[in-house]
Amino acid sequence: MKERTRRKGKGYLDRLEKEFDLPYNWKVDSLKDFHRAMEQGLKGRKSSLPMLPSFLSRPTGREKGCYWTLDLGGTYVRVLDVALDGAGEFSIVFAKRFAIPRKVMHGSGEGLFDFLADCLLTFCREHPDHSNEERALAFTFSFPTDQHSVNSGTLICWTKGFTTAGVVGEDVVVLLQEGLKRKGLRKVRPVVLVNDTVATLMAGAYAQPTCDLGVILGTGTNACYPERIERIGKLPSEVKGGEMIINLEWGHFDGLKRNRFDAVVDNVSPNPGRQLLEKMVSAMYLGELVRLMLVDLTEAGILPSELTRGRERPFSLSSEEAARLAEGETDGWSSRFRLKKEEGQMLSHLSRLVFDRSARIAATAVAAILTWMDPALTSVHTVSVDGALFANNPFYQEEMRRTLREVLGAAGERVELLLLKDGSGIGSAVAAAVAERD
Ligand code: GLC
Repeated sequence: MKERTRRKGKGYLDRLEKEFDLPYNWKVDSLKDFHRAMEQGLKGRKSSLPMLPSFLSRPTGREKGCYWTLDLGGTYVRVLDVALDGAGEFSIVFAKRFAIPRKVMHGSGEGLFDFLADCLLTFCREHPDHSNEERALAFTFSFPTDQHSVNSGTLICWTKGFTTAGVVGEDVVVLLQEGLKRKGLRKVRPVVLVNDTVATLMAGAYAQPTCDLGVILGTGTNACYPERIERIGKLPSEVKGGEMIINLEWGHFDGLKRNRFDAVVDNVSPNPGRQLLEKMVSAMYLGELVRLMLVDLTEAGILPSELTRGRERPFSLSSEEAARLAEGETDGWSSRFRLKKEEGQMLSHLSRLVFDRSARIAATAVAAILTWMDPALTSVHTVSVDGALFANNPFYQEEMRRTLREVLGAAGERVELLLLKDGSGIGSAVAAAVAERD
């Protein structure tokens, strides 16, 4: 690298660092903004945190039984047969995973629910137990849904790139039942509708009584926590009892400082102006943020232009690949594009800026919910987390832990982030048991 290019590169990186930085003050101030948005959302007032009631409380750990779960995530559908032993333990009897075809994500509602019913049909056919016994099914639907009860809810809007027609404003359990009927699947009976965060919390709390937060860091991002019923102003007065789990839909939070790359990502997304936090945090968007920075640096002549060849299209760099760069695995790129050592380091550094910012925002939002529930942080809190962004990247987990300690001080040390792989599948079985119990 020539000296002039090196200096220019350093100047550019310094600027990028500033654009992706979240200073300590920002983090502390944003706790208050988050609390305000939570409070408004719970009262049913206009807020970028919808605070959606789930009509479920946490499990006791003694729930028992066998449940099938159908989990529609952002990328895959997972079907599980889960056995709960009544002592905080579970086993997966049978499992299958199906990739969601693009035409299903962007087609008709009937097509989507036929696809889900087909996944269940394949699951039934391949399941070792061929009995015709009726099965209670938990439906994990990982999108913002306005629930009217534990087993019904209308889709508010699509997120994570879905644009399936004719589903927004409809009861997704009814649409599922119709799909099951069309495919002649009579032995499966939906008993509960849950968001993936709620399921993740359920799975964590089933085994661990200190678990009071469920977080997803994957294609999308979101969180839920148990709230005291008297604080949920928007619930009808006949709803009584101790607690109800609230799905924050934190991906929609709009109190963050955004930069020029965030603005471009938002513009090319199918839902501009919405899910602003999600677009800075979740795996669906991180690869694109890194790609946009690469385009910027190649156009400025700081990195070789070949780096972006074949990656001209938005979303053509996956978050998995960007995460490897962020971790320092640049050898593949360095040999393919004959990069100099400093160029490889620069590539890694700028990717890291994107992932570190994501981890810091996620940890700050976790800190905000914890301090809302327990302002003096006197209790022990366990956060159950599911999703590939968190699960596959130890450096990301470390950055979250570091931020929790920075924002919460010594109390941050006592917050446990517990990785629960498949938590959203298993937890919906727990949710089904809780729904049947209540
Ligand atoms: C999106 C959805 C939300 C879900 C999250 C994680 O933000 O709107 O419901 O929990 O993705 O999958």
